Amino acid sequence: MPKKPFYITTPIYYPSDRLHIGHAYCTTVADAIARYKRLAGFDVLFLTGSDEHGQKIQRKAAENNTTPQAYVDKIVASFKHLWEKLNISNDDFIRTTEPRHHELVQAVFQKIYDQGDIYKAEYEGWYCTPCETFWMERQLNEGKCPDCGRAVEIVKEESYFFRMSKYQERLLDYIEENPEFIQPTSRRNEMINFIKGGLEDLCVSRTTFDWGIPVPFDTKHVVYVWFDALTNYITAAGYLHDREKFAKYWPADIHLVGKEIVRFHSIIWPVILMALGVDLPKMVYGHGWLVVEGDKMSKSKGNVIDPLALIDEFGPDAIRYFLLREITLGLDGNFSRDALINRINADLANDLGNLLHRSLSMIGRFNGGVIEAPGGTDAIDQELIELARITAAQYEKHMEYQDINAALKDVWTLIGRTNKYIDETGPWALAKDPAKKGRLNTVLFNLAEVLRIVAILISPFTPVTAPKIWRQLGLASDFASVTLGEAQAWGRLPAGTVVAKPEPIFPRIEEQPEEQAETKPVDKAAAVAAADAPQAPGLPEITIDEFAKVDLRVAKVLAAEKVKKTDKLLLLTVDLGTEQRTIISGIAKHYEPEQLVGQNVVMVVNLKPAKIRGIESRGMVLAAVGDDRLQLVTADMPAGSKVR
Ligand code: MSP
Repeated sequence: MPKKPFYITTPIYYPSDRLHIGHAYCTTVADAIARYKRLAGFDVLFLTGSDEHGQKIQRKAAENNTTPQAYVDKIVASFKHLWEKLNISNDDFIRTTEPRHHELVQAVFQKIYDQGDIYKAEYEGWYCTPCETFWMERQLNEGKCPDCGRAVEIVKEESYFFRMSKYQERLLDYIEENPEFIQPTSRRNEMINFIKGGLEDLCVSRTTFDWGIPVPFDTKHVVYVWFDALTNYITAAGYLHDREKFAKYWPADIHLVGKEIVRFHSIIWPVILMALGVDLPKMVYGHGWLVVEGDKMSKSKGNVIDPLALIDEFGPDAIRYFLLREITLGLDGNFSRDALINRINADLANDLGNLLHRSLSMIGRFNGGVIEAPGGTDAIDQELIELARITAAQYEKHMEYQDINAALKDVWTLIGRTNKYIDETGPWALAKDPAKKGRLNTVLFNLAEVLRIVAILISPFTPVTAPKIWRQLGLASDFASVTLGEAQAWGRLPAGTVVAKPEPIFPRIEEQPEEQAETKPVDKAAAVAAADAPQAPGLPEITIDEFAKVDLRVAKVLAAEKVKKTDKLLLLTVDLGTEQRTIISGIAKHYEPEQLVGQNVVMVVNLKPAKIRGIESRGMVLAAVGDDRLQLVTADMPAGSKVR
C-alpha cells in the first residue's frame, strides 16, 4: 500500500540576522513532528527555508556595504549549518531567490491579475519595515507598529492591490466549517474577530526599492515580500514544476508558525489560494514565543541566545529535549540555563541514563551480557508490560494532536516506573540464588524490552541518543527503518541478544554556584573516615551545641558505581537539593550500585573533603553497622531536608 503523504512546513526565516533559540524552537518542533510521522509510516515532505527579499534585507545589506545577494548568501549558509548541527531532517530548503520560486511568484501574480483580482491604485499609509507590514493610521498603537512596537514610516506610492475584500465571506465560512484550520483555538477566535472587522484590499507591490521579484507586466514594481514569501509553500510542493508531486503533498497538513504571523497564514495565504483555485492548507498552528528569563529576546537587551553555542556545550539532543519538554506547544515558554541543566541532569542523565546504565551493567554482570528469554511473569511484570503498552498507544494519540509535551511526559513516566521496578525486583538478590535464575531472566529481559521501546519512542525528539541506546542494547536490526508499530508490540526483543558495554549517553552537568566551586583543603584522616562507616561505641559525652555542628541532611543518590581496582568503595553522586556532590563510601560489599540509585540517604554535609583514590569525596553517608551487616540510614524526605 502506498504510504500516506504528510506535508509540514516551518516559516521561512528572514536572513537579516543569524537565527536564535526561538527560531530553533520552531524548527525543532516541526522536525519532531516530521520524524514522528515518518516513524508512523507516512511519506513526509518537511520544508524549511529563507525569506530573502524586501526592504529590510536591502537596508541591512547596504549597512554592511554589500549586495543583498551576497548578504543573504552568507546568512543562509549559517541557517543550513545550524539545522545540520541540530539534526533537522528537512527534505527541502527553499530560498525565495531561487529561479523555481521566482517563476512561480510571477506566474501566480499574473494569473490573479488576469482574472481581475489585482488592480492598480495609489497607496498611502504606514509601513513597518522590521515586520514588512502595511498599517492604516487607525491600526497604529500610539503611532507605532501594533505588532512589534517599533517606529513606522509613511509610504505613498503607486501600487498593485489584491482584492482580499471579495473573499471575506468565503474565508469566514471556511474557518467556521473547518475547526482544525487554525490552531490552537484561542488563535482561531482572534482571527475570526479580525476578519469580521472587515478585510481591506492588500497592497502587493512596491516601487521605492528593487530587492524583490519584479511584477511581470510592470517591472518597476517588485512583489510585496509577504505575497512572495507565502507562496514558497506551493513552489516547494511542485505547483508549477511538478504536478504529480503537488497532487500528492498538497494541501499541506501543517504550517507551523509563530503566533505573530498566524494572521498572514490564516488570512492572506488562504485568500491567495482561493484566488488561484487551490485547496487551503489543513492546519495553521501558531506556537508561542520563547522568552529568556521572562524577557523578550532582543539585541538591545543583549539577551539573544545563540543555539549553536548551546549545541556545542550540551549536544543537540539535550537542547531539543529541553525545548520540546519544557515548552507547551501553543503557549509561551521560558528559556533559562538553570532550567536546561536541571532537565539534562534530572531527566536525561538520571532517569534515562541510569535506567540504561543499571540495566546493561546488570545484564553484563549477572548474565554475561546476554538477554536471556524471560521466565514466567508475576503481577509486577504484568503491570510494567501494561504500562509500556498504554504508553506507546497514548504516545500516538498525543502526537497526532501535536501534544508533544504529553507524549514526552508519558515516556518519562514509563522510564521512572522501570527504575522503580529495578528497586522492587532487586536483580542483585535474585542473582545470588541459582533457584531464582528464571525470575532474574524475566526481570532483565523486561528492562531491556522497555529500553527498546523507549529508544523508538524518543527517536523523533532525540535522534542521536535513540540509535545509541539501540546499539548498546545489541540490537542487530537497522534503527533507521524501525517503525512505531514495533514500539507498540511487547516482546519483540530477540532472546539471546548480547548487549554492549554501557556508555554514558548524557554526562551530568556539574555547574556549581561560584562560591562553592573552589576546592576545599583535603585531609587524610577524614578520607579514611569517609571511606568506612565509623564504629564508635562509648565515645565521650558531647553537648547539644557540639552535636549541632554536624550538618546532617537528606541526599538523593543520583548515580553509583564501583571505584576501579577496589572491592570496598563506591563512588556516589548525590543531590542535596541545592547542589550535587560526589562521595566515596566504603559500602560496596553491602550494596550493588544499582540498588542505591534513587535512595534518599542521610549524609554528613560539612565533613572536611577528602581525596580517596584520586577522587575528591565531599561528605559521608550514614549507616548502621553490625558484625558483617551494614544498612544505610534512609529517610523518605526530599533531598536537602535537615536531619536533627
Ligand atoms: N519571513 C517571515 C516568515 C515568512 S513565512 C511565509 C518571518 N521570518 S522571521 O525570521 O521573523 O521568523 C519568524 C518565526 O521565527 C516566528 O514565526 C517563529 O516561528 C520563530 N520565532 C522567532 N522568534 C521567536 C521566539 N522568540 N520564540 C519562538 N519562536 C520565534 O517572520
